[in-house]
Amino acid sequence: MKFESLRIAGLRCLDGVAITPAPGISVFVGANGAGKTSVLEAAYLLSHGRSFRAGSRDVLLKRGATSLSVFAEVRAGDDRARRLGLGRESGRWQARVDGDAVSLGSLVQECAVVCFEPGSHDLIAGASDERRRFLDWGLFHVEHGFVNQWRRYQRALKQRNALLRTGAPLDGGLMDPWESELALSGEALSGYRKSYLDRLVPHIQGFMGNVLPELGAFSLRYKAGWDEAMDLAATLHERRGRDLGRGHTTAGPHRADFSIAFEHAPLREHLSRGQEKLCALACLLGQASLHAALRGEWPVVCLDDLASELDRTHQEWVVAQLLGRDVQVLVTGTEVPHALTDQPVTVFHVEQGGVTALL
Ligand SMILES: Nc1ncnc2c1ncn2[C@@H]1O[C@H](COP(=O)(O)OP(=O)(O)O)[C@@H](O)[C@H]1O
Ligand SMILES: [Mg+2]
Repeated sequence: MKFESLRIAGLRCLDGVAITPAPGISVFVGANGAGKTSVLEAAYLLSHGRSFRAGSRDVLLKRGATSLSVFAEVRAGDDRARRLGLGRESGRWQARVDGDAVSLGSLVQECAVVCFEPGSHDLIAGASDERRRFLDWGLFHVEHGFVNQWRRYQRALKQRNALLRTGAPLDGGLMDPWESELALSGEALSGYRKSYLDRLVPHIQGFMGNVLPELGAFSLRYKAGWDEAMDLAATLHERRGRDLGRGHTTAGPHRADFSIAFEHAPLREHLSRGQEKLCALACLLGQASLHAALRGEWPVVCLDDLASELDRTHQEWVVAQLLGRDVQVLVTGTEVPHALTDQPVTVFHVEQGGVTALL
């Protein structure tokens, strides 16, 4: 998928911005605080429904503004063009595809952007919800049945938690149907995630061997969110008393996680911050590569602050990986990164919330 145009209004410092990114590599340069990362956030927003930076979606709204909108014309590999939009008006967020109001999930499925940015090490070192979001985003884009199961699970989880929160003695008649729905959809989710990881790991391994060869063989272990010696239905039933005390559901795919290990760094704590970043980069590229294998086209790849995130060798490596493929890349930096100075790139200047193409 590629962006043919991107229009941004009322997002942080960006207003009235219209960009025609190159089909290959675009570099957004500008001073600190100019709005470079915000451009990538706009692209990411359409594909994730949120920012990669901390905070709710609402913090993206420009201070003092009452509306925010991001519109894009995208073209998929099969030459299908789509108009995508996400905006906030009168306190409501609304997603659109080709002018029609759609759910956020339907929008996100039409747009694929992966982003390597200064917070990406959280995928390795952060809380487990980062890793679940990573898995589920991948699944949302390649596995149609997943969305339905995911929705069923979220709904049943909400209902079970609502019953637990009342703190009243449990009424089996009320609890049983939601618990069985939770168990059915939860087992299905878990199955999707496991088979996704089975396909994903070889793609990650392909990159990991290049970025962190010194750490030896890489492995990844999925933790389902409950002790799989027992099925989820029995686990939920057994935990009713404990969950009632806690006021929420303590087992299931919403507690899932995965851990990574290397032959010479068996624990995550053995990795330096720089190694965590490289590890996250390999995971993101692996996900993009699997997406390409299954969907026939690469997602858009964003590299925020490339030159300050990676040493020169790894900057050159990642650029070489992407140049050899038909992929649209959006890079930011205070200047054009060294690895790109001799490459065919389109440069945009970002200043005081405005973006202009440099000829
Ligand atoms: N909600 C907001 N409204 C207005 N300006 C904002 C908002 N959030 C952040 N900013 C400002 O937007 C600018 C853009 O930040 P950013 O995109 O991170 O810049 P860069 O990546 O170029 O350093 C910053 O100057 C920041 O202070
Ligand atoms: Mg920035």
